[in-house]
Amino acid sequence: MKVIVTGGAGFIGCNFTRNLLQHTTHQVLVIDKLTYAGSLRSLDDVAEHPGFEFRQLDIGDAEGLRNTFAQFQPDAVVHLAAESHVDRSIDAPAVFIETNIGGTFTLLQETRRYLAEVEDEKRELFRFVHCSTDEVYGSLEDDSPPFHESTRYEPRSPYSATKAAADHLVGAWQVTYGLPAIVTHSSNNYGPFQYPEKLIPVVITKALSGDAIPVFGSGRQIRDWIHVDDHCRGLTAALERGKLGEHYNIGANCERENLELVHDICKFLDRLQPRSDGQSYSNQIQHVNDRPGHDHRYALNANKLADEFQWEPKISLAEGLETTVRWYIENSKWCQHMLERTTGTLIQNSFT
Ligand SMILES: NC(=O)c1ccc[n+]([C@@H]2O[C@H](COP(=O)([O-])OP(=O)(O)OC[C@H]3O[C@@H](n4cnc5c(N)ncnc54)[C@H](O)[C@@H]3O)[C@@H](O)[C@H]2O)c1
Repeated sequence: MKVIVTGGAGFIGCNFTRNLLQHTTHQVLVIDKLTYAGSLRSLDDVAEHPGFEFRQLDIGDAEGLRNTFAQFQPDAVVHLAAESHVDRSIDAPAVFIETNIGGTFTLLQETRRYLAEVEDEKRELFRFVHCSTDEVYGSLEDDSPPFHESTRYEPRSPYSATKAAADHLVGAWQVTYGLPAIVTHSSNNYGPFQYPEKLIPVVITKALSGDAIPVFGSGRQIRDWIHVDDHCRGLTAALERGKLGEHYNIGANCERENLELVHDICKFLDRLQPRSDGQSYSNQIQHVNDRPGHDHRYALNANKLADEFQWEPKISLAEGLETTVRWYIENSKWCQHMLERTTGTLIQNSFT
């Protein structure tokens, strides 16, 4: 299968591309605008792979997309390109509207245009997988059951509202124009190559540089964590076997309070890279003002994916956190590179 991966130079995109090239025979064309969050450095190890191509492109560029579709002749699009950081969406929402809604609209239109030209058989097998988030479902109380695929949308941040809008566009294009689409909703991802503005890489990089480790408010917010490799296997299952028009939650049933998670990371750091003064990194934790409208809890029921595809998460949080902490210790140059090329305001205390 020839797969276009939008946003393939970002965190999940580079891991997904690597997973596809390593574990399947699919060919991958990554298209990415290379914003502050995307870098070719994250794809270094697959750059020479015969099944890999890259094109720097904005998903809002209709002509660029048209030419790319015509030349590559894809069998599928996996749409990951987005502005993804909640705090940035609060500070500067316009680019979220532009990329997450406007860009998705342009991509849908160009996919439609392309499909109108291809042979019937190719059109019938084509798939458009849209990668969404659990944040479109809103925020849960402590005693509420986890989100499921039919939970009502109730986005509460500019980020989640733009993702919800994009999901609705995909749904409308599927019903109205017959676009062969599938939507996935993942919980909070962690793992290698995550831009150091999200919780886990922020904690690790701040700790190692001797800075304060910021924790929003009380730190009692609950997130449901999944290792990015498990998410990528779920995405591949949705791509290869997903039913058209369906939504699939992808989560590992792994809820943690933010503060507890930060302490766990500090414990791994204490063991893997002890502070020179023998103190724990947890001494660097500092509570900061809470994010406006901060969602209290996310939790995801992923039984549908498990039942239909025999998918299950393989990486426990303890194992995944340890390998992730090790990865950041060993890849400080990558972090430095990402932080140095950042444009705009860098917000270092995020907990999406
Ligand atoms: N990270 C998570 O925990 C998580 C959870 C659920 C869903 N998601 C979704 O998964 C997708 C990927 O998330 P991520 O964490 O890898 O994000 P990311 O910010 O790390 O990467 C986004 C990528 O998209 C690219 N991009 C941004 N605007 C673009 C544009 N206009 N045209 C082309 N490329 C553009 C960036 O350069 C970057 O490479 C997003 O759609 C996000 O909403 C993420």
